[in-house]
Amino acid sequence: MNDIDKMYKLLEKEISVFSYPKTPKLLYAPIKYIMGLKAKRIRPLFLLISYNLYKKDISNVASPALAIEFFHNFTLLHDDIMDNAPLRRGSCTVHKKWDKNIAILSGDAMMIQAYKLISQVEPKYLKKVLDVFGNTANQVCEGQQFDMDFEVSNQVSLSEYIRMIQFKTAVLLAASLKIGAILADASEKDQNHLYEFGLNIGLAFQLKDDLLDVFGNKKFGKQTGGDILSNKKTFLYLKALQIADGITKQKLQDYYSTSKNSINKVNSVKSIFSQLSVDKHTVELMKSYYIKGMKHLEAVESKNKEPLIYFANKLMNRVS
Ligand code: IPE
Ligand code: IPE
Ligand code: MG
Ligand code: MG
Ligand code: MG
Repeated sequence: MNDIDKMYKLLEKEISVFSYPKTPKLLYAPIKYIMGLKAKRIRPLFLLISYNLYKKDISNVASPALAIEFFHNFTLLHDDIMDNAPLRRGSCTVHKKWDKNIAILSGDAMMIQAYKLISQVEPKYLKKVLDVFGNTANQVCEGQQFDMDFEVSNQVSLSEYIRMIQFKTAVLLAASLKIGAILADASEKDQNHLYEFGLNIGLAFQLKDDLLDVFGNKKFGKQTGGDILSNKKTFLYLKALQIADGITKQKLQDYYSTSKNSINKVNSVKSIFSQLSVDKHTVELMKSYYIKGMKHLEAVESKNKEPLIYFANKLMNRVS
């Protein structure tokens, strides 16, 4: 078993033994449900791997790692309502299995749980860790609102899209790495390089998410074409608009200006994306962020960077 497999196992164990109050059942059952579905655990793994660059005993930072996973799962519950998503991790979303109110409140409780867990770090790290965590959580909300604003805007620029995915997704990956480094007493310089590494890998990660939303298979565990149905202004869409001829561009804009949903819309948009090879453009942009991220990782003054490189590569090539 490699180091990352061991960390994954530790996290799964922590998640499975986590004890929830028995009542109200409809508050805690959805939390247990979403936390128990098979997931990649990228963010807590980043925290553990980052800590492990400097210090051995990762069990010291199990609580903040778990905090990050709780926080991430809270965002998923609310995100699935906002995106009207039926599927998550290959299973029914919480708001479909129960209802919206339940998904809202269980999500809230998970966010509070995240703060309780992160507050368990040693007092000497508390202020700094809470600052990073709080600022990040706020940015995630900002990113999510930009994402929703863009559904009904046809003026979204590439740089606005990048800022949106940086906030909704990349900052949490970056903060996970930074918090791991803070807790391991890494230098300020290393903390910042790890943050920037995470930010760039996070941008590539969301680009891949957008790509899989259109071209992924069953393993992705989410509804194919969900972003198309919601008129999400993803990189694929923005790139397509940029390179399409006039007629195709108009067709795309027409599809994205209606909330009428049909399988025909998904198939037509998908075929336009394919004709324009937007998948290749997406992979290209992913690679450029990957390279930027790796430059920051190179500057980190730790010897044992192999697991992080291995993990980042795995994320670039993921199908789920
Ligand atoms: C999904 O995150 C939400 C995004 C930011 C794209 P993950 O792809 O990490 O989902 P899980 O936690 O592994 O299910
Ligand atoms: C979600 O982005 C980011 C957060 C949950 C904060 P997406 O809406 O693309 O994530 P998925 O595809 O539903 O997992
Ligand atoms: Mg979503
Ligand atoms: Mg979303
Ligand atoms: Mg998505």
